[in-house]
Amino acid sequence: MKNQVVDDVITYGARNYNPFNVVLSRGQGEWVWDIQGKKYLDMLSAYSAVNQGHCHPKLLKALELQARKLCITSRAYHNECLGPWMRKLATLTLMDKILPMNSGAEAVETSIKLARKWAYSRKGILNPNAKIIVCNNNFHGRTTTIVSFSSEPQYRDAFAPYDNGFVSIPFGDAQALEKAITQDTAAFLVEPVQGEAGIILPPEGYLKNVADICKKNNVLCIFDEIQTGLGRTGKMFAHEYENTKPDLLILGKALGGGIFPISAVAGRQEIMDVFQPGDHGSTFGGNPLACAISIAALDIIIEENLVQKSFTLGEKFREDLRNVLPSHIVKEVRGKGLLNGIEIYPEAGSGRFYGELLCQKGVLSKDTHGQILRFAPPLMLEPSSLDFGLSIIKDVFSKTEDEWKKGS
Ligand SMILES: Cc1ncc(COP(=O)(O)O)c(C=O)c1O
Repeated sequence: MKNQVVDDVITYGARNYNPFNVVLSRGQGEWVWDIQGKKYLDMLSAYSAVNQGHCHPKLLKALELQARKLCITSRAYHNECLGPWMRKLATLTLMDKILPMNSGAEAVETSIKLARKWAYSRKGILNPNAKIIVCNNNFHGRTTTIVSFSSEPQYRDAFAPYDNGFVSIPFGDAQALEKAITQDTAAFLVEPVQGEAGIILPPEGYLKNVADICKKNNVLCIFDEIQTGLGRTGKMFAHEYENTKPDLLILGKALGGGIFPISAVAGRQEIMDVFQPGDHGSTFGGNPLACAISIAALDIIIEENLVQKSFTLGEKFREDLRNVLPSHIVKEVRGKGLLNGIEIYPEAGSGRFYGELLCQKGVLSKDTHGQILRFAPPLMLEPSSLDFGLSIIKDVFSKTEDEWKKGS
């Protein structure tokens, strides 16, 4: 498709993304439309940022009401939305205190700073020896500190020098955590399901085991639920599957209802209280517009029963596709709730090829790590919309890339 918008992005934009050749202009619920009016089922949801569906009327109302009143004050003053939002999020997460930021990566950075200051001021680790244990194949964002502990060469290699306060262990291996802990260990940071790595699920009991190991060793347990939180995996938070709780919980993406960036660290008082005024901050963090929208975004998840919907429709997604997709093309269908991946054998074709084919046929998804396609639709999608998506997926995976190309 030849298009001025695309040309402008190619001409004037930095090349840090390689989007499919489609220009989206409108969204409603689980559907989006391109500039030619073609309709697509959004099964990516901006990487799980749109759990509530596109342009939810309640979110638009909250946005408009607050935007007409007051958008930003900075934290130099109080605003009337921040307190109610903090109270709501603390109640929902069963945590004592909340610290607002904007992007997911900023909230991860915040948790790293909290863990380090806690390590020096409470645990007694000698400054600057604090280490944070992370997992291989993690994805926690793109800042220079965070990419320092990425195991993905493209995310890390060209961006030295690195922050060396991190130690990496295999994901899903609780014993490896126990072995890696030393007297200098401040925290363990982990995703309950590795999303970007390809929807990698840890063994059952892993989250509880690591939380218990952390507790036993006076190490902070930090769960990054930026992608898995807020209903995405069929529980409000993925760690609820194992009746456990971290010391710090990181949220983002759907916290802003897919219309405004807001992220947060929720945590226990003893840890959150290490920050003094001036230790940390953000110009936009906690602004009234973001808080008003986030209050509505959290209400929608509860009022519309999106957590249960995610659980039920996620089961259907996997049940319908397992054993139906050709076993010489699809290696595995896996996931939790509405965070799912389809892994394709390299011999059958590339994830990018199947992603483009799905897009042509009206379903938006995206490959991650080459061979895995991620399916994470808005949690409010109608069962009939899911049926549409499933039928397209079955069609697209009925042939290998070569067969499609030969037109056979
Ligand atoms: C688990 C996890 N952590 C952190 C991030 C980074 O969030 P952001 O892109 O908002 O900085 C992401 C984004 O995909 C994520 O999935």
